[in-house]
Amino acid sequence: MDVSRGLEPLPVSVWPRLEELPAFQYSPDHVLGEGGKPDPSEISFPGCSCHSASCLAPTCSCLHYGENYKNLSIKTKRSELGFSKPIFECNTMCHCGEMCQNRIVQRGLQFQLEVFKTTEKGWGLRTLEFIPKGRFVCEYAGEILDFNEAHRRIQLQTSSDSNYIIAVREHLYDGRIMETFVDPTYIGNVGRFLNHSCEPNLFMVPVRIDSMVPKLALFADHDICAYEELTYDYSGRYHNFLPIEEQSNTQEGKESKKPCFCRAKSCTSSLPYDSSLFHKDDRKSNAEEIF
Ligand SMILES: C[S@@+](CC[C@H](N)C(=O)[O-])C[C@H]1O[C@@H](n2cnc3c(N)ncnc32)[C@H](O)[C@@H]1O
Ligand SMILES: [Zn+2]
Ligand SMILES: [Zn+2]
Ligand SMILES: [Zn+2]
Repeated sequence: MDVSRGLEPLPVSVWPRLEELPAFQYSPDHVLGEGGKPDPSEISFPGCSCHSASCLAPTCSCLHYGENYKNLSIKTKRSELGFSKPIFECNTMCHCGEMCQNRIVQRGLQFQLEVFKTTEKGWGLRTLEFIPKGRFVCEYAGEILDFNEAHRRIQLQTSSDSNYIIAVREHLYDGRIMETFVDPTYIGNVGRFLNHSCEPNLFMVPVRIDSMVPKLALFADHDICAYEELTYDYSGRYHNFLPIEEQSNTQEGKESKKPCFCRAKSCTSSLPYDSSLFHKDDRKSNAEEIF
């Protein structure tokens, strides 16, 4: 009973039964969807020339911004400006070995996870074992779309549909914003079962390996006990990138508000809402395509 059908390094169990899960195609990695570019399977970066077992800053060209991981845990801290440095893992062109400390997300699932039926939020994802703070848990992988296709698919949703489409906006050093649209509704990985919480135990970080298209990697925000549900903050607050705009006051905005059942003390009572996916005009004026 493995929802990944052998495609992950560890099987992902389903409770109570795999047969009850609505159908979708499992893919551990992003796949190219409508309008998506560049191709997420395209190799875009040169490798480092380190011949050591593990790469170290500052000699490794992949570690230009300093080391990303220590003892398998992410080191990234938000800078004073509130933005994280970009993370580039060693890739297929690098000369270092498979055990290089700068290869974490590419190793895939390392903890036993389970897709389970929640009482109020549909399906969810939980861990069956303890996860230490900072460790990589899973990716949020799906079809890579362009804005128009993401917008088209969002418009087709009804208020009772689960939304799986995520828009990630990263600030580039020169002030530009890079946007990535991922939809795991039809083709995706275990990340599609992660529910939102206003006090989450995971945070999302864009991590680049071979391709310019970032992997959306989820790391443990603090130690997580066995059987805890895994959640992240859909709004992009905390460690993430650009927080999405506050809910607009338009009638459409109100209609799109969904109640949040995260049960956290600080619960804001509704799910975060990215108005830019619904209304083309709400896109930030300085958002542009950089490819
Ligand atoms: C990415 S999916 C998560 C998996 C989903 N629960 C399922 O059954 O496939 C996002 C959807 O799950 C539901 N959801 C996620 N977090 C929630 C929360 N805190 N409260 C209520 N519903 C939630 C909403 O329907 C949302 O559109
Ligand atoms: Zn390396
Ligand atoms: Zn190196
Ligand atoms: Zn909440």
